[in-house]
Parts: sequence; structure tokens; C-alpha cells
Amino acid sequence: MTKQQARIYRTRTDLQAAIAAEREKGSKIGFVPTMGALHDGHISLVEKAGEKSECVVASIFVNPTQFAPGEDLDRYPRNEEGDVARLSAAGCDLVYCPSVEEMYPDGSLTNVRVEEMSDLLDGIHRPHFFYGVATVVARLFIHVKPDVAVFGEKDYQQLQIIRRMVRDLGFGIEIIGGSTWRDADGLAQSSRNAYLSEGERETANAISSALHRAACRLHLGRPVSEVLAEARAFILAAGFTKLDYVSAVDPVTLQDLEEGPLAEGQECRLLAAAWLGTTRLIDNIGV
Ligand code: PAJ
Repeated sequence: MTKQQARIYRTRTDLQAAIAAEREKGSKIGFVPTMGALHDGHISLVEKAGEKSECVVASIFVNPTQFAPGEDLDRYPRNEEGDVARLSAAGCDLVYCPSVEEMYPDGSLTNVRVEEMSDLLDGIHRPHFFYGVATVVARLFIHVKPDVAVFGEKDYQQLQIIRRMVRDLGFGIEIIGGSTWRDADGLAQSSRNAYLSEGERETANAISSALHRAACRLHLGRPVSEVLAEARAFILAAGFTKLDYVSAVDPVTLQDLEEGPLAEGQECRLLAAAWLGTTRLIDNIGV
């Protein structure tokens, strides 16, 4: 059966009228926020939202407040037509493509800051980043008012920060994590992989390999500091030009684990961020 073309809305008012009509029919609303340039990872989240709701809304908005000056806002890949076709094929019903003005009406002064969790890991290297993410996701939640929203584990710190924001502000939205989609060699799919040269692409899976090895070593009872040092060395030896971090943290608070082997049953998330030339890649896995 051919799926219907998803309907595109550019203003909050029009989107809300369409969502109200869906609610009239008794549909539960599922939501997948994105910045477009969609790949299979994004699509898997749309499918997951479809399992949880009768009406799936996806947004495409390259959010300027999560980019620092000098980052890739201007060259971030954009392909609305292709994205909408992929979303439609995946069963998405409504696509929200707001303008910057729609998301940040002139003179906007209000931002959302999830303290502490935003200042660790990626937040150290991109200090503005999670404030921009929390602010835009809060605004999108207010526009869409979904019952459930799906975020990828690929951006694990983002997922945990959104969970915390929803809890703290009482949004009443169920947040679901979708597992990370990878290429056959293990590289986590990302819109930014498009920036990699052929040679860089061959090196890029070293992050996921290093994290897998590290997870095995932790399982075997090796101490955290030793395992992290090995992973850092592995990534740099593979040809990454700069390493921002490789960390082992508590999966909920994102605080660094204590030194020593993992305790029996202790949960851990391993996260890494590293550069190949001008492209920054991140990845993470659970232990
Ligand atoms: P974007 O990078 O477009 O990602 C949109 C969603 O897709 C996020 O929840 C992200 O974690 C998920 N995703 C990305 N790569 C994935 C992969 N390989 N497997 C599974 N899921 C993956 O994340 C953002 O946009 C923005 O920060 C946003 C939340 C939209 C706010 O602007």
C-alpha cells in the first residue's frame, strides 16, 4: 500500500489546527524532532513513534541557538523535499518546518537551561549547545503538545537532558529512546558523516570499535582509568586528529564513575567525541 504524502506546516497555528483535528479522531500524538538531512537512524525513530501513536509529527528545523559562531550552521546539510518523501514513506503524518521567526519570535528572551547535566561531556566543548537544544525542544513541545516523543540514543547526553527537562518542568510527555543506527562497519549514522572524505570515512568507525573494546574490558573487570586510556590511545592511533573526551559515566546523572573496576550489576555509559579534520563525531554505548 502506498503511504500518503505527509502534510507540511510552517506555522504553529496551522500545525495546531491539524493536530486538533487528529485529536478529535482520538489519535495519540507521537513526535520526532530533527534538523533534517534525514538518514535511516532518524527514520527508525519515526517508525518507533508510529508504534506508540496514531498520528506521527516530525519537525525539521536547523536550530540556530545550538550552534556557536564558527560552527557549521551555514553549511549544515538541507534537503526538505527528500526528507519529506522519506518521512512520508515511514508513515509520518505531519511535518512541521517552522521558520526561525516562528520558533523565536522577535525579541524572545526566554531560554531553558538544564543545569549541571548540560555542562559535562559535550557541554564542556560546546558550552552553548545543550541550552540551545533544551530551549528549542521545549518550544517545539509547546507547539506540538505530543503524548510521546522519540529521541535517539546516538545523542545520549541530549536524551538524558530532555528526560530531565520533561521531569523538572512537568511536560507530561513520555520520552522514548531509540537505539543507534550504524553503518555495517559500526559507524553511527549522522547527518555530519556527509562531511567526511573517503579516507576519513575509513577511519571513522574507530570510535565505535574503541567503545566496544572498552565495554568488553570493563565487563572483564578492568579498572575504568586503564580502559579509558586504552580507548583514547586507540582512537588517536587510528588517525583521529583530536580527541575531546572518552568518558565512563553514570547513565542517568552523567557523572564520571569512580576509579576501579565496575561493581557487580553497576550500570555505565561510555561516551566519546573526536575530530577527523574539521568534522566532529560522537558515539556512545551502554555497558
Ligand atoms: P538531529 O541531529 O537531526 O537528530 C534528530 C534525532 O535523531 C535525535 O533524537 C538524534 O538522537 C536522532 N539520531 C541521530 N542519529 C541517529 C542514529 N544513528 N540512530 C538513531 N537515532 C539517531 O538531535 C537533533 O537533531 C537536535 O539537537 C534536535 C533534538 C532536533 C533539537 O534541535
